[in-house]
Amino acid sequence: MAEIVGGVGSSHVPAVGAAIDKKQQQEHYWAPFFEKLEPIRDWMDGVRPDVCIVVYNDHASAFSLELIPTFALGVASEFLPADEGYGPRPVPPLQGHPELAWHLAESLILDAFDITIVNNMPVDHGCTVPLSVLFGNPTEWPCSIIPLCVNVIQYPPPTGRRCFDLGKSIKRSIDSYLGDERVVIVGTGGMSHQLQGERAGLINAEFDLAFLDRLVSEPDSQADMAHIEYLREAGSEGIELIMWLVMRGALDLEVREVHRAHHVPTSNTSNGLIVLENLVAGNSL
Ligand code: DHB
Ligand code: FE
Repeated sequence: MAEIVGGVGSSHVPAVGAAIDKKQQQEHYWAPFFEKLEPIRDWMDGVRPDVCIVVYNDHASAFSLELIPTFALGVASEFLPADEGYGPRPVPPLQGHPELAWHLAESLILDAFDITIVNNMPVDHGCTVPLSVLFGNPTEWPCSIIPLCVNVIQYPPPTGRRCFDLGKSIKRSIDSYLGDERVVIVGTGGMSHQLQGERAGLINAEFDLAFLDRLVSEPDSQADMAHIEYLREAGSEGIELIMWLVMRGALDLEVREVHRAHHVPTSNTSNGLIVLENLVAGNSL
């Protein structure tokens, strides 16, 4: 039986990807941030997942405003880094896991989540930056990657509750898969930031730390937070945090917080990272 062996929440700031690509991790601005990643990379090294499910949002790279899937699952065998206007990031292509991805598509859709199935999807910084955060700059990614894209760009995005429930459905799907894959699920985006309008530059570290606490210990009540609350407290792009609830829903009610890192600022963002493990097997929400 396949198994979810951990969950990671990670911001996906493009400048972090650029710093890695340009090998600027030791520079004055970046060194204090990258130091905080070391325990998380060590954890990934130890866990050695076969597959990462990366829950992220596309920033109008694969999907324009002509077509806006609420949830889109990549079932291809390969996903190329997107060209976001300055050439694709110099990172390896992602190797998918079509068999597990199709199993996920089938079980999620039969579980009443109307997932869009995607055979061809370039992946932008929303997906590739968390991979760089977790794995550095390897010549190939050390595991298969299944991208799961969530609309948080165009109102209305799904509710936090829907994202949390999707995570639970993902867990049931992985539990029912007859392979022996070890799966890490990654929720990306956030934390507080606003890239536009009167409040551009907004950061609310107090909210972000409280979000992390609630994500760990009170995920069910966090799932009820309304969109407007994210906008008010965490800025217009803070809504990306609902994707962390997909990750949290895929874990058990009782989790162990293995690592937390928080750094303000990276670019315009309050940057968060968290690693969670299930306490005991078979204690599903
Ligand atoms: C930034 C953060 C994001 O999440 C994003 O998608 C784009 C830019 C930033 O902080 O610069
Ligand atoms: Fe973003």
